[in-house]
Amino acid sequence: MTQREHFGSRAAVIMAMAGSAIGLGNIWRFPFIVGEYGGAAFILVYIICCFLLSLPIMLSETIIGRRTHQGTFGAMNALAPGTAWKWLGLLTVLSPLIILSYYSVVGGWSFAFLCKALALQFQPDNAESVTAMFGTFSSSTWWPLVCMMVFLFLTALIVYFGVNKGIERFSKVSIPVLFVLIVIIAIYSMTLPGAGEGVRYLVKPDFSKLTPDAYAAALGQSFFSLSLGVGTMLTYASYVRKDENILLSGTGTAFFDLLFAILAGFAVMPAVFAAGITPSSGPGLVFETLPFIFAKMGAGAQVISAVVSILFFLTILVAALSSSISMMEVGVAYLVEEKKQSRHNATIILFLITLVVGILCSLSFGVLSDVKLLGNTIFNFCDRLASNFLMTIGALLFSVFVGWKMDKAAVKDELTNGGKIKSSGKLFPIVYFLIKYVAPVTIAAIFIIGLLG
Ligand code: TRP
Repeated sequence: MTQREHFGSRAAVIMAMAGSAIGLGNIWRFPFIVGEYGGAAFILVYIICCFLLSLPIMLSETIIGRRTHQGTFGAMNALAPGTAWKWLGLLTVLSPLIILSYYSVVGGWSFAFLCKALALQFQPDNAESVTAMFGTFSSSTWWPLVCMMVFLFLTALIVYFGVNKGIERFSKVSIPVLFVLIVIIAIYSMTLPGAGEGVRYLVKPDFSKLTPDAYAAALGQSFFSLSLGVGTMLTYASYVRKDENILLSGTGTAFFDLLFAILAGFAVMPAVFAAGITPSSGPGLVFETLPFIFAKMGAGAQVISAVVSILFFLTILVAALSSSISMMEVGVAYLVEEKKQSRHNATIILFLITLVVGILCSLSFGVLSDVKLLGNTIFNFCDRLASNFLMTIGALLFSVFVGWKMDKAAVKDELTNGGKIKSSGKLFPIVYFLIKYVAPVTIAAIFIIGLLG
C-alpha cells in the first residue's frame, strides 16, 4: 500500500480546514440569513452556537478522523467493526456529493459574475438592468451549465493533485489572500455614502426580531459554514499527523471561519443599506444587490468600483473552490481506500456523478423549474435535504459516537496526544461534557422542534 498523505505543518492543517469552512456559506449565505433574522441579535446567537454546539461536533469529527487515519467509512469500520455505525460512514460518503452538486451551481454563478465584472458589465448607465441580470442568467440553459462545469472541473483538478500538492498548496495561498480581499471590500463598502445604517444593523442587537426558528437557522448556518455533519472535517483530520494539537486546530478553524463571516457581513450589509435595499432579500443578495451597487457607485469612481467588483467575485470563487475540494475529497478517500481505485479514477468518477446531479440542480432554475420533489425545486430539495436533515443527523450521530460509543480514555488520549498536551488535558472535562451532553441534547431538541414546526 502506498504511504498515506499528511498535511505538512500546523499552518497547513488550519489553512486546509479553514479553506473548507470558509466558502459560499460565509459570503453568500451568512449575510442573507443575518438579513432574514434581523441582524446583530442573530449574530450573537450564531456565535454562541458556533462555540457551544458546532465546535464540539468539529472536535468529534477530528477525533474520529485523526484516531483512525481513514476516510469516513473506513473510520467507522475501524472503531466500531460489524455494527450499524457503518451506515453513518456510508451516509457521510453520499451527503457531501449532494452538497457538492448544488454548491457547484452557485460556484458556477460566481465564475460567471467574475467574467461579467471583468467584461465591465456593471456600469452606471445600466444600473437598473443589472439586478435583472441574475434572474435572466440563472434561468437560462447553457451558460450556467458551462460555468458549473468549469467550477467542477477546477475542483476535480485540485483534488486530483492530492492532499499536499493540491489541497494544501491551494489553501495555503487562498486563505490569506481571501482575508486581505474581504478586508479591502469591507473598507470600500463601509465608506460608501449611507453605509452607516448597515454597520448599525450589524452591531446593534434588536432582540424582538429573534423568532424561535432563528435558533434552528443559526445552528444550521453554523454547521454549514464549518462543513460539519457530513464527514468533511473527519476526512481532513485523517490527514493530520499524530503530533498535531487538534483542539487548537479545531478552535482556530472555528475562529477564522467566524471572523470571515463577520467580515463578509461588513462587506455586504453596509453596501446593501447604502443602495437603499432591504437586507432580507434572500439568496439573490450578493448576485443581484451587489452588482447593482457596483454599477450605481461607479458613477463617480468607475475604476475603483470596477476593481472592487472583480475582487469581490474573485473572492467568492476562490472561497467556493477551497470548500468544494473538501467535499470531493470525502468521496475520493472512500473510493481510493475502500474500492482500491487510483486517485485519478476516483476523481473522474466523482466529477461525473456530481456533474449529472449538478446539471439537474442548475436546470431547476430554468427549464426544469416545474419539476418538484416534495414541493421543492431540485436545487432547493438538495439544499433542504442536506442542511435541514443530513447535516443535522450526521452531526448528532458523530457526537453520540464520540461521547457514548468510544472509550472515554481513547477520546482523551486523542485530544491530548497521549497526555502530552497539558492544556488540552485541563480543558478535557469541559470539552467532553459538551460533546457528550450539551451538543447532542440541544441539537436533537432543535431538530425535533424544527420537524414539528
Ligand atoms: N463550509 C463551506 C462554506 O461555508 C461549505 C462546505 C464545505 C460544506 N464542506 C461542507 C457544507 C460539508 C456542508 C458540509 O461554504
